Amino acid sequence: VVRRGVVEPVRWVQGRLEILDQRLLPYHEKYLVCRRVDDVVAAIKTLAVRGAPLLGVTGAYGMALAKNSPAAAKKLIASRPTAVNLRWAVERTLQASDPLAEARRIHAEDAEMCDAIARHGAPLLRGKPILTICNTGALATGGIGTAFGVLVKARPPAVYALETRPLRQGARLTMWEAEKNGLRAFVIPDGAAAAAIREKKIRAAIAGADRIARNGDAANKIGTFNVALACHALGVPFYIAAPSSTVDLACPNGSAIPIEERDGSEVSDRFPAWNPAFDVTPARYITAFVTERGILKPGDIKRL
Ligand code: MRU
Repeated sequence: VVRRGVVEPVRWVQGRLEILDQRLLPYHEKYLVCRRVDDVVAAIKTLAVRGAPLLGVTGAYGMALAKNSPAAAKKLIASRPTAVNLRWAVERTLQASDPLAEARRIHAEDAEMCDAIARHGAPLLRGKPILTICNTGALATGGIGTAFGVLVKARPPAVYALETRPLRQGARLTMWEAEKNGLRAFVIPDGAAAAAIREKKIRAAIAGADRIARNGDAANKIGTFNVALACHALGVPFYIAAPSSTVDLACPNGSAIPIEERDGSEVSDRFPAWNPAFDVTPARYITAFVTERGILKPGDIKRL
């Protein structure tokens, strides 16, 4: 699954979409074969494939499998609500005369945006211990990643990755990618974020985003808001790295972002649970956005 140093989380092979089944990582590296759009929808819903930009890429290939059927577009868009990239890519593919060519373009453009994000963001993170949450690497995008791509480029002396409940994407996926990229990384419990910032002399935190509202509020994996608050309280910059396909200018602020709630059994097999997959960090706690167009203040988002 690692070719030329790049993980291939999705690939188009002879008219089928192959998806690296992220539910099995880090123990097994196995591809699911999707022949129909319903296979893709199932893979998205069960988090076999995930991450905002990669959901966009996957949705576009799903449209290629469905030969641009509007009914398939509806199913794909409804499969996960928070990451706007999915809707953006499916709608873009629907407008195209050749859906496969458009999906390949969306994939290639995402890889380019990741490279640009890494270039812009790396100087912010060099030479100091950094904290990150969720998985934002090659497994979550069409390229080297958003926040994780910046880490790969910056090569900080230490990366502290939150385990990221409920599905432990940090512990399973970010750590797997850190190992593949030779980064010095440590997984920490989500509850240890504030303590780690203080005790491990963390000098910045960086996360991805699933949807950025016009006013600069940003939805990301649950726990991101806690990290931003801890950074604010401890005087540490908190950055969000994301491509412009994650910006939803039609969304005025964070309260308009739909937040996916997942089954409680992902948290407890015995007790009732509330299991939101994402939270919204208000713009005032975000030091800056690292985008493919450069470093932007939250107030600049509306100009994108
Ligand atoms: O539920 P997921 O795994 O799809 O959520 C992924 C995230 O929250 C990522 O941090 C996000 O997509 C950021 S960008 C790669």
